[in-house]
Amino acid sequence: MNLPKQVTIKEVGPRDGLQNEKAIIPTENKIEWINLLSQSGLSYIEVTSFVHPKWIPQLADAIEVAKEINRAKDVTYAALVPNMKGLQGALATNVDEISVFMSASEAHNKKNINKTIKETYPVLEAVIGEAKKNDKSVRGYVSTAFGCPYEGEISVEQVVSVSRQLFDFGIDELSLGDTIGVADPLQVKEVLTVLKDTFPTKKMALHFHDTRGTALANCLMALQMGFDTFDSSLGGLGGCPYAKGASGNLATDDLLYMLDRMGIKTNINQTKLQEAAQYIQQFIPKPLPSHQMQICSQEGSATR
Ligand code: HMG
Ligand code: MG
Repeated sequence: MNLPKQVTIKEVGPRDGLQNEKAIIPTENKIEWINLLSQSGLSYIEVTSFVHPKWIPQLADAIEVAKEINRAKDVTYAALVPNMKGLQGALATNVDEISVFMSASEAHNKKNINKTIKETYPVLEAVIGEAKKNDKSVRGYVSTAFGCPYEGEISVEQVVSVSRQLFDFGIDELSLGDTIGVADPLQVKEVLTVLKDTFPTKKMALHFHDTRGTALANCLMALQMGFDTFDSSLGGLGGCPYAKGASGNLATDDLLYMLDRMGIKTNINQTKLQEAAQYIQQFIPKPLPSHQMQICSQEGSATR
């Protein structure tokens, strides 16, 4: 097998993980969690999103969180932004990277950001341009790239078309989202074969949700195809509130376990990462779904 020697894991837990959580977590505890994540060796953390608080009440404290975290030297801190208003908030906090997002499917785009795909393009073009003027790197998410909760299958041509627009507007990296966790490894191979022929592999990341337990298998397929950047959320926290069933991102701790065992370098310390997972668990009213967290809780009860 031809596998990358090193992989970058982009932690999206403080944004994608928390956005679905009903019980509001105090701002100081989010900050403390991000500070622990920063000490684990992760090189990238998406810390919050500057969306409408009516839509995502959990992240209404975006400005405070992004401003008050202790920024580690070697970590890139990113925030999700839907429009100019969100960008203004993000710029006021001096995050390093802006993440814009839209869907490959019309229906999910409309539910998620209240615009058609066509209406979204000029908004994102302006946001990307302005972010660049402010020396920010920009990543673009394409959601529902492997399936939509409303429209079902999405053609690869549609994924390519939306991705091309985002690259044309100037994004530095594309993150392909399996928003509702429907993808399987053969579909991943099919879609990524086309994407690899169209855009540089080094400029693409995979954002798998583990709704149906296929996320690690999908990662393995992508790894074999030369992809080396993956988004994940510690403990498997997360989901998209506008995509029914999109519970649980691929868990960072499970991904790290697999990569470590395979001898693929990440520079992340498992023990420190697990401490960060235990910390956030205190504020989540259900057990975090990752396998690593389940093992920890079993070991905890076995020794009590
Ligand atoms: P809208 O209602 O169409 O916005 O919402 P609007 O432009 O018509 O403005 C209406 C009001 O909202 C105005 O206030 C604006 O100022 C205000 P008013 O004049 O009525 O007082 N407003 C804002 N307030 C705060 N922050 C803003 C903002 N923008 C306008 N940024 C909007 C459009 C995009 C804002 C809304 O639909 C929204 O916030 N959506 C966010 C949905 C979301 O966060 N979804 C989850 C993230 S995406 C995801 O999880 C997928 C991903 O993980 C990848 C994957 O898994 O596939 C990334
Ligand atoms: Mg997501």
